[in-house]
Amino acid sequence: MKIVLAPMLLNWKEFATGCPDIDQQHRDIIELINELYTARFSGDREMIKGILTALIQPTLNHFAHEELLMERIYYPDAEAHIIEHEKLKSDSLEYIKRFDDGEDIAAELQAFLFDWLVLHIRCSDRKIIDFYQSTLHS
Ligand SMILES: [Fe+2]
Ligand SMILES: [Fe+2]
Repeated sequence: MKIVLAPMLLNWKEFATGCPDIDQQHRDIIELINELYTARFSGDREMIKGILTALIQPTLNHFAHEELLMERIYYPDAEAHIIEHEKLKSDSLEYIKRFDDGEDIAAELQAFLFDWLVLHIRCSDRKIIDFYQSTLHS
């Protein structure tokens, strides 16, 4: 059984990893996802499109930042993490394409982004930072 979590406004602090630059990047992305949540109810497609477009570059920059960090610290699970990033990128682009084709994907996209944050930031990103911090203390 798949548990579907209801999207809601997110508090970036609940996603803090303890790494200031990564937390700031997550915060920027989370704030845009919150804007998307609010825009959904306006039904304003121009506004939604603007937020989707605004999400692309910070997300790509953020992934590149994490991938560089993983390389720098010789993170052992880097390959699996990069595969997750690639999947998130291709899924996001697919949602944007469907939106551009006129589909109403806002609710589905919101759930996808919420799952991404919960699963990817809280689990996968967390592991990078835990590993990074363990290397600092060894
Ligand atoms: Fe991240
Ligand atoms: Fe990541």
